[in-house]
Amino acid sequence: MTASSNPVLKRRSASTSLVTKAARLSVAPMMDWTDRHCRFVHRLLSQQTLLYTEMVTAPALVRGGALHLLDFSSQEHPVALQLGGSDSEELSQAAQLGAQAGYDEINLNCGCPSDRVQSGTFGAVLMKDPARVADCVAAMRDAVDVEVTVKCRIGVDDQDPEQVLPEFLQAIHAAGCRRVTIHARKAWLQGLSPKENRDIPPLDYDLVHRMKDAFPDLHVSINGGITSLEQAKTQLDAGLDGVMIGRAAYHQPTDILAQADAMIFGSGQVADPIDVVHKMVPYVKDHLARGGRLHQITRHMLGLFAGRPGARAWRRALSEGAVHDGAGPEVMLQALDSIAPLAEV
Ligand SMILES: Cc1cc2nc3c(=O)[nH]c(=O)nc-3n(C[C@H](O)[C@H](O)[C@H](O)COP(=O)(O)O)c2cc1C
Repeated sequence: MTASSNPVLKRRSASTSLVTKAARLSVAPMMDWTDRHCRFVHRLLSQQTLLYTEMVTAPALVRGGALHLLDFSSQEHPVALQLGGSDSEELSQAAQLGAQAGYDEINLNCGCPSDRVQSGTFGAVLMKDPARVADCVAAMRDAVDVEVTVKCRIGVDDQDPEQVLPEFLQAIHAAGCRRVTIHARKAWLQGLSPKENRDIPPLDYDLVHRMKDAFPDLHVSINGGITSLEQAKTQLDAGLDGVMIGRAAYHQPTDILAQADAMIFGSGQVADPIDVVHKMVPYVKDHLARGGRLHQITRHMLGLFAGRPGARAWRRALSEGAVHDGAGPEVMLQALDSIAPLAEV
């Protein structure tokens, strides 16, 4: 059977091209932050940016049967599921569950340095075992139609990134991975907390650019320390295929996402965060009707007006009002009183 007559490959290539386009800009996977409510808010700010879940471990899905971790809203597309794990069989089963749930991409975490993750031999420690990562990627690709991608560091501990990063990329490329996101700093597995591991090891953007030159048919996204859309644009103009933004997208979602469709994807409207708040009302009502609490959603909306007059009062009204029993969407709408419309700013 040729590639063009193979239905699995055809489906893979159609969905791959859409999600690859979206990967020009992505919001990073962030545990406890990029849950489904956060992603819903982000999607109202940008229609086209690729969104990632928090890391979900393959054992939790496959052994623990925690399928509720895969729940998401259809409005979130394009959305990628990030998996943690290092057992190829378990990862392929978890990838299958993710694809069945409707995710557009399955991403393997090779960058997370936390102790809990190290003890399960996954995350950044996998930078030391590219052959195993390649086996995992190959098994996951065999199991699903959607694209399988990797998020990695430039190395760990005393590894030499100049040597290990190309070897790592070569191994996953040979296993069929065509898209990678590189957090452009090492992880130090001993002695630094996960938080310190996002700031202290120095960034090496230049190495990531050289990897793009060395692997021209690999879609390479850069991650780490990018705090504005202008910086993202500079990275893209310099030849990279994608930019992933984490903390800045969470804390200043409007700055990063409201203009992303127009500025990064070349089409679409600039979103108004006041409209976003109004558009959240039905979503909030639905969540409350299912027994959820307001603050589970509004904690991801605190940064919507970051840098704008009234932002502090907005945050205070939201964080104090949303935790009360029975708090509903009126808390958000009243909190908007502290924000002046843009024309008056
Ligand atoms: C609270 C938090 C949780 C994170 N959780 C994950 C995770 O689950 N998986 C992952 O690959 N990276 C995780 N990261 C790392 C981010 O995806 C990203 O690589 C890192 O924050 C650097 O990008 P930035 O400088 O744009 O924030 C997390 C980061 C933060 C701040």
